[in-house]
Amino acid sequence: MTAFDFPEPRTPDPALAPSLRWGIAGPGWIGERFAESLQAHGTQRVVAVGSRSTDRAQAFADRYGLVAHGGYGALAAADDVDIVYVATPHPAHLELALEAIAHGKHVLIEKPIGITAAQADEIAAAARARGVFAGEAMWTVYLPAFDVVRQVLDSGRLGRIEGVVADYGEFLPEDHRAYRPDLAGGPLMDLGIYLLALSTHVLGGVRSATAGAGYHGPEGADGVHTHVSAVLEHDGGATSALHTTLSGFTPSTFTITGSAASLTIDGPFNSPAGLTVVTADGERHRWEHPALDQVAGLHYQAAAASRAIADGRLETQEWPLEASRLALDAADRLRSAAGIDFGPALGRPGR
Ligand SMILES: NC(=O)c1ccc[n+]([C@@H]2O[C@H](COP(=O)([O-])OP(=O)(O)OC[C@H]3O[C@@H](n4cnc5c(N)ncnc54)[C@H](OP(=O)(O)O)[C@@H]3O)[C@@H](O)[C@H]2O)c1
Repeated sequence: MTAFDFPEPRTPDPALAPSLRWGIAGPGWIGERFAESLQAHGTQRVVAVGSRSTDRAQAFADRYGLVAHGGYGALAAADDVDIVYVATPHPAHLELALEAIAHGKHVLIEKPIGITAAQADEIAAAARARGVFAGEAMWTVYLPAFDVVRQVLDSGRLGRIEGVVADYGEFLPEDHRAYRPDLAGGPLMDLGIYLLALSTHVLGGVRSATAGAGYHGPEGADGVHTHVSAVLEHDGGATSALHTTLSGFTPSTFTITGSAASLTIDGPFNSPAGLTVVTADGERHRWEHPALDQVAGLHYQAAAASRAIADGRLETQEWPLEASRLALDAADRLRSAAGIDFGPALGRPGR
């Protein structure tokens, strides 16, 4: 039997990170989870919220003890905010990030950082020019479980890495914003972005994509894909086979295959509860870990942003802006292969 010892996570204690004053742009579902996570764990202080509506900002502010700003520009300009967490639907990320950066604010932007690689580039260029921190809130890569994956990969114990097979499906109700063409609806940007982020992180950029999408949404969701499957060829010659859907829950596991062993991240892999390694002799090795939901996990990325800023770095080491760009470049290629048009979300008529 082959021995396989899993390393301990090296994730720094979020309670030791320097404290920043956070402003939340977007009083929606993830904005609530972020406020709850930071208030329950670690040292970060949520001080303000912005919304397009003064009433909605005030209602959110009352729940979490914050200052309310009616208008995202007012939040971006607020003197008592160090960093803006952009938590609006995807197509609004670019504009709100650029506005905060223009006011000299650091930014942590929900995934996906933008809806195209060009938008990721625009945010990166603006943040570098202004000398502020920018990062994508790809919370998975900041969790302790993912640091174990990272160490196993870095150790070379999986052998020659040749591919990824992974899926991510959730049932989202028909009134969810994921069915809105003007908000870059479909599973690709909400769920699939995790598949693309981790597969490009492990296998490198994508040089070619084959993909097919299906469209079975409710009335009014014209042009919004409901499911998509893709085979991607990565720069180093490895391949990934990916599937995502918003029509139902799927195993949502993420398997990396290597010549010496395969590693599977438990589903849902974006908040992993454990890992399985199967070595070439067929032996199964488990690493158990409690599952962390968003409230138990979002503060790790906030602490990482804070540590980077305290060290004078404009990006995190765990998830630099190039990682966000690679994932969106893969998404661009996949969309082109599958015929998915984000025209309505990019301000031009789509199909
Ligand atoms: N990390 C995670 O686990 C996770 C989970 C869910 C979502 N997310 C990400 O977080 C982002 C927000 O998702 P969510 O589910 O929280 O969305 P949501 O509940 O719909 O809330 C988004 C908020 O953004 C504001 N907003 C600004 N511009 C808007 C526009 N053009 N249309 C609609 N709302 C707009 C709205 O507030 P006002 O109308 O008051 O301005 C709304 O409350 C997405 O990019 C998503 O990918 C991440």
